[in-house]
Amino acid sequence: MIRLGVIGYGYWGPNVARNFNSLDRTQLVAICDGNPSALARAKSQHPGVRLTASSNDLLASEDIDAVAVITPVGSHYALTKAALQNGKHVFVEKPFTCNVEQGEELVELARQNDRIIMVDHTFLFTGAVKKIRQLIDDGALGGLYYYDSTRVNLGLFQHDVNVIWDLAPHDLSIMDYLISSRPEAVVATGETHLNGLEDLAFITVYFPHNVIAHFNVNWLSPVKVRTTLIGGEKKMLVWNDLEADEKIRIYDKGVQVKNREGVYELLVSYRSGDMWAPRIEQTEALKVEVNYFLDCIEKNEQPMNDGAAGVRIVRMLQAAHQSLKQKGKDVEL
Ligand SMILES: NC(=O)c1ccc[n+]([C@@H]2O[C@H](COP(=O)([O-])OP(=O)(O)OC[C@H]3O[C@@H](n4cnc5c(N)ncnc54)[C@H](O)[C@@H]3O)[C@@H](O)[C@H]2O)c1
Repeated sequence: MIRLGVIGYGYWGPNVARNFNSLDRTQLVAICDGNPSALARAKSQHPGVRLTASSNDLLASEDIDAVAVITPVGSHYALTKAALQNGKHVFVEKPFTCNVEQGEELVELARQNDRIIMVDHTFLFTGAVKKIRQLIDDGALGGLYYYDSTRVNLGLFQHDVNVIWDLAPHDLSIMDYLISSRPEAVVATGETHLNGLEDLAFITVYFPHNVIAHFNVNWLSPVKVRTTLIGGEKKMLVWNDLEADEKIRIYDKGVQVKNREGVYELLVSYRSGDMWAPRIEQTEALKVEVNYFLDCIEKNEQPMNDGAAGVRIVRMLQAAHQSLKQKGKDVEL
């Protein structure tokens, strides 16, 4: 039985607490939030669970083995560090930290203390992303050309981070999981319209061998769009996360170059074959993920979404932020 404490019971914390509480092999021991109304909600949803406004109380508790840090990014470093120093395993929200240095320090601290850090890159545990990874690994798409994603809607405006730090961690972590090679450079542009924080941004990530990824993240869109295109040599894929059925459609479409004798004689033929939609597992991603966290603790294994993965995403976020502030200057990773 792994005994768990949750810090942060705002919007996302209740989902994490509910999922941990639903498992037979965990016991939700305590919930901490500095806000009394959040604690009142926790009390009604988890009667019998210890409540506290002090993270120090929870972190020092001897009856807790692992801590979930579900607070805004500004507090992830300090809370994760204190949890590791108190000998706890940590499940921490995305983005892992505010900068690469903090993330690397936590990774090293976890290694020294033989504890596990898991960063909540929830999308890696969705049926859709698992299916896409399988298609790539099986070679169904062929060599990748590009990854192009749009994650836009109206709001929710954040007060502490811009749209890149809020929305792009999802897409960057999916890309990091799907594309095995390491990116070389990032370019980003964006603009601020309302509260001094960028509310829309366009990020490009360059990989070796002409593979390119692009992300459109926007809090100012009239419609909600969650669509990703992945182009491969053999097949192309559209993932529309808002579709109830047929979230992923695979198109047997492409271009074949017939003749490379000279650039002016280049002959191409277009292939336009069938479309099919694979079956996708429907289990709640967070439930799969928290189970995996417990597996990793029990087997003493590094998760795929460990602190090092968290640092890779923060490195790209930091580079995108830096590029954006210089109106799209190329930033090497
Ligand atoms: N994985 C996902 O899909 C997903 C979805 C939403 C949010 N998130 C992430 O979850 C984190 C929290 O987001 P949210 O939307 O729930 O924020 P929120 O502001 O709604 O909730 C945060 C809560 O933490 C509490 N808190 C803050 N600092 C604290 C501290 N030091 N000690 C105790 N309590 C503290 C606040 O009082 C608040 O109730 C962010 O990092 C966000 O990026 C992830």
